[in-house]
Amino acid sequence: MSEFKDKVALITGAKRGIGFETAMRFAKEGIHVVMSGRGQEEISEAFEKVKANYPENKGFAFNCDVTKPSQVEDMINETVKRLGKIDILVNNAAIIHERFNVVDMPERIMQEIYDTNVFGVFYCSKYVGRQMIKQRSGNIINITSWYGKVGQAMFAPYCSTKAALNNFTQSMALEMAPYGVTVNAVAPGWVETEMHWGALQNEAEQNGITFEEIEEMTRNLIPIKKRCTGDDIAAACLYLASKNGQVVTGQAINVNGGLCFN
Ligand SMILES: NC(=O)c1ccc[n+]([C@@H]2O[C@H](COP(=O)([O-])OP(=O)(O)OC[C@H]3O[C@@H](n4cnc5c(N)ncnc54)[C@H](O)[C@@H]3O)[C@@H](O)[C@H]2O)c1
Repeated sequence: MSEFKDKVALITGAKRGIGFETAMRFAKEGIHVVMSGRGQEEISEAFEKVKANYPENKGFAFNCDVTKPSQVEDMINETVKRLGKIDILVNNAAIIHERFNVVDMPERIMQEIYDTNVFGVFYCSKYVGRQMIKQRSGNIINITSWYGKVGQAMFAPYCSTKAALNNFTQSMALEMAPYGVTVNAVAPGWVETEMHWGALQNEAEQNGITFEEIEEMTRNLIPIKKRCTGDDIAAACLYLASKNGQVVTGQAINVNGGLCFN
């Protein structure tokens, strides 16, 4: 029997990409998964796909914009009311932005990206953290990025949000350790998702080359010559939530094909 059976997980931004694949993988392991995202119809549709494969999943879909603390609180209260606890929080929801040098960057981009990528994680971690302190157990997992470990031209706002989260993870890990709660980050490299393909498409257009050319060029920059899948990221999250993972806290685990080592 899976060691994860009957655990309860809450995943933000779960309607597609890494969040969706993590929900699918968690449900496969017997975890009851609450999938949250913006737009009731879209998140319900994504949840139904998971439920169709794993009907024993007692989770549900919840329409929640992580930039709105009152919606975050409602989502957490509803999860505890219906499922009794929260064992795993995956802070996955995030946005990326168009490519600009800092000197040309519209100021609204910096504001929007911090609202989602940093404040969203803060709100979810704050309210789920209170619940996990009561439980004396839990695992908070922040999906960051290798862009938070190494700066990238034209992505200063995004990179700096992810760097902020890597450090936020360490601080919160120290605070939560006495309660038996771990706080870690998983820092993906390039992952085969719509977010990544969209960013590559923009780069191709700006450089006057085709999508296929940029896809090949960037793949060749990865030492193992292979992008990650959402399931690769989900597997790292599962490790952090596993029995063996309970001695790991405050880390930002690279799953990146060798793109960076720090
Ligand atoms: N794809 C990559 O190459 C890559 C690399 C490194 C890190 N990441 C990180 O992985 C995570 C998932 O990325 P992805 O590639 O699956 O992207 P994605 O765009 O497919 O998924 C992000 C999800 O977050 C949701 N979201 C955005 N703002 C939200 C908000 N305010 N409230 C609720 N949901 C919101 C989106 O609707 C979407 O469902 C993100 O944190 C991203 O920064 C991705």
